[in-house]
Amino acid sequence: MVEQKRPPRNRGFYVKMKLLHKHGRLQDKSFFYRYYKWVLWLSLTLYFFSSYLISNNPQSKLTSLSKTHVSNSKSSLASRALIEFNGNNNATQLRTEHTNQGLLNNLKIFVYDLPPKYNTDWLSNERCSNHLFASEVAIHKALLTSEVRTFDPYEADFFFVPVYVSCNFSTVNGFPAIGHARPLLASAIHLISSEYPFWNRTQGSDHVFVASHDFGACFHTLEDVAIADGVAEFLKKSIILQTFGVKYKHPCQDVENVVIPPYISPESVRTTIESSPANGRRDIFAFFRGKMEVHPKNVSGRFYGRRVRTMIWRRYNGDRRFYLQRTRFPGYQSEIVRSVFCLCPLGWAPWSPRLVESVALGCVPVIIADGIRLPFADAVKWPEISLTVAEKDVGKLGMILEHVAATNLTTIQRNLRDPRIKRALLFNNQVEEGDATWQVLSALAHKLGRSYRRRTAVSSQ
Ligand SMILES: *[C@@H]1O[C@H](CO)[C@@H](O)[C@H](O)[C@H]1NC(C)=O
Ligand SMILES: *[C@@H]1O[C@H](CO)[C@@H](O)[C@H](O)[C@H]1NC(C)=O
Ligand SMILES: *[C@@H]1O[C@H](CO)[C@@H](O)[C@H](O)[C@H]1NC(C)=O
Ligand SMILES: *[C@@H]1O[C@H](CO)[C@@H](O)[C@H](O)[C@H]1NC(C)=O
Ligand SMILES: *[C@@H]1O[C@H](CO)[C@@H](O)[C@H](O)[C@H]1NC(C)=O
Repeated sequence: MVEQKRPPRNRGFYVKMKLLHKHGRLQDKSFFYRYYKWVLWLSLTLYFFSSYLISNNPQSKLTSLSKTHVSNSKSSLASRALIEFNGNNNATQLRTEHTNQGLLNNLKIFVYDLPPKYNTDWLSNERCSNHLFASEVAIHKALLTSEVRTFDPYEADFFFVPVYVSCNFSTVNGFPAIGHARPLLASAIHLISSEYPFWNRTQGSDHVFVASHDFGACFHTLEDVAIADGVAEFLKKSIILQTFGVKYKHPCQDVENVVIPPYISPESVRTTIESSPANGRRDIFAFFRGKMEVHPKNVSGRFYGRRVRTMIWRRYNGDRRFYLQRTRFPGYQSEIVRSVFCLCPLGWAPWSPRLVESVALGCVPVIIADGIRLPFADAVKWPEISLTVAEKDVGKLGMILEHVAATNLTTIQRNLRDPRIKRALLFNNQVEEGDATWQVLSALAHKLGRSYRRRTAVSSQ
């Protein structure tokens, strides 16, 4: 913790020390202690000299990470990242949160500092850090100030590659275009694999990416196209943090992955709860707002949401127990707070931001998406806080919900009030123990078998 509060430039010396150490020059401890004053003097000189070099080297292209240059390139890259984030996330927020490193098995993550065209340039559009795919931004931000971050790539277990691919909003319909995702990622990988030795060392298997779209690293909204394209070839050996997950074999999760929740801004949840308490009266029995086509189009052999939403609309529109709305309304969270059951039917993909919003606002999620694999199953006991209705049973929804309301609803609602569940599904600007980024770290801490550092440490013993 203390370490991370220091200006990142100090890290330059730290790395140099480590590298010298690797070469065995500082291995004689008694020698080191006898001459520590001299070493201290030398290090201060080096520090000021390298600071001078850095501040006189505004060109921040990726410099070679050959061992002699590691201190300069890395520290200047690191400080640039911090400066870039000051726009949104100012210096007072750069304090590190206390996370329990013991629980995380002393995990260390190196965050590549890529040129801004790969990430921070996109933040000029405010939606980029707030919409449902924004976990790619949120996880990056949280890692920058996290205790698990290391500035020394040689001691890293994992390498986080921060590329924002969801912020190219279409000028026509406002949806994010993801056609550029593959080329942008490929270019980022080309850059890191030519400038740094770490990608080639493991073919990227200790590198971590976020793919927060409908079908994860397949990068297409339509399932048949996504399946035909498959997971991008250059990502196949890496670890993908993705919102998409199903319990059966699927080409779009045919890669090491962690299912993460879609992004919902914690501020929006807080604001909603402040104006209408989540434990207030719930006068809506069953709620859904969103796209519900009366006559769904057949798009290359597939119907939106496998027609489940159409079924809901046809069967329950006009039923007094159901509050169904087909138009957008920015204040919809205030409706969730008033609802007992919140319907979470599949769309193009099985997952939906409604899962997180319902849980965060105390409405029992009714999951209608056969085979869905839900995020952080260790931390969130989904069967205890939600209902699952098979797609084929959607016509019996009214009866099913009535039955639950008459039997175990209060149990489910009580389980849902556990603050740890809500915490696990929300991404904060800084990692908080138990929050969504922390759950990601915890999942990565279970994949340390992929850590090059630990594997080589074991084999050299
Ligand atoms: C920085 O953030 C703090 C807390 O979020 C806020 O009070 C302060 O006004 C911000 N300062 C600037 C310069 O944005
Ligand atoms: C954004 O998406 C559009 C439409 O798919 C594409 O033409 C454009 O090249 C993309 N922009 C960038 C910077 O990748
Ligand atoms: C990694 O491998 C690629 C392709 O073989 C090569 O072009 C590149 O120079 C290598 N990178 C390093 C740092 O050696
Ligand atoms: C949907 O369209 C495909 C061709 O795109 C066709 O083969 C299929 O029969 C259609 N399905 C229905 C139910 O209309
Ligand atoms: C509540 O009851 C429903 C329907 O009987 C059942 O499927 C569900 O597992 C129960 N949930 C809990 C938490 O008891």
